[in-house]
Amino acid sequence: MRYSVLTLFPNQVKNFLSESILGRAMEKGVLSVECIDIRDFAGNRYGKVDDTLFGGGTGMLMQCEPVYQAFSSLYNRDSEKKPHCIFMSPKGQVLTQSKARELASFDHLVFLCGHYEGIDQRVLDEIVDEEISIGDYVLTGGEVAACVVIDCISRMIPGVLPNSEAYEEESHMQGYLEAPQYTKPNIWHDQEVPEVMLSGNHAKIKEWKRLHGLYDTWKKRPDMLVKLDVSAEDWKKLLEIDKETQERNSIHKNEN
Ligand code: ADE
Repeated sequence: MRYSVLTLFPNQVKNFLSESILGRAMEKGVLSVECIDIRDFAGNRYGKVDDTLFGGGTGMLMQCEPVYQAFSSLYNRDSEKKPHCIFMSPKGQVLTQSKARELASFDHLVFLCGHYEGIDQRVLDEIVDEEISIGDYVLTGGEVAACVVIDCISRMIPGVLPNSEAYEEESHMQGYLEAPQYTKPNIWHDQEVPEVMLSGNHAKIKEWKRLHGLYDTWKKRPDMLVKLDVSAEDWKKLLEIDKETQERNSIHKNEN
């Protein structure tokens, strides 16, 4: 996967993406990230890429030509296909796991990051294929949002994580949240790891994880559960888990 990020703050993006798992994936050559400084395409000595708004309004707007030239520098218009361009914006479609999965199938993605009041609409109309938001709130610029989207997509690209199971069982991948997880020691502060986890019975462990994943979804994200077709049989088991959980929690509250 090749990512190109068009930004006024290339170091912000570079610093974030060069660390940890993504940094290692870049070293291995599984991913490549280039950060293009839009200011390099300013067309004036001062690196000025913004101007005041027509029709009034406070702040400055990024101008068309520097953004257009920065985007055009990424490919040869005569011989190459236009790369898929994503504008990071609070007005965009909110990122979901399935959107990230869809984007992971591209070979080259371009992320356009706005600053100040935004970018002149005319260049957006010409180069942008879709707008993506990372949530219903406004950030100071699109850079952090682009990093979030790149991080989310990259974990699904073969060779980035050690094995595909590492993400396939995770929250949101199957439409419900991941079950709680445990590691050594077996007993901590009088709390035992669920017996089934130590049983070595893979079928039972799988079913435990499925049911407890559903249970956490019911309790933490009921909005996700309504989209799942939970059977009457599963509901019976979820109610049993609920009773056990409440009993366990009340014992703990009394002890502590
Ligand atoms: N730029 C500013 N706010 C944003 C958001 N919520 N998502 C994506 N890009 C943004």
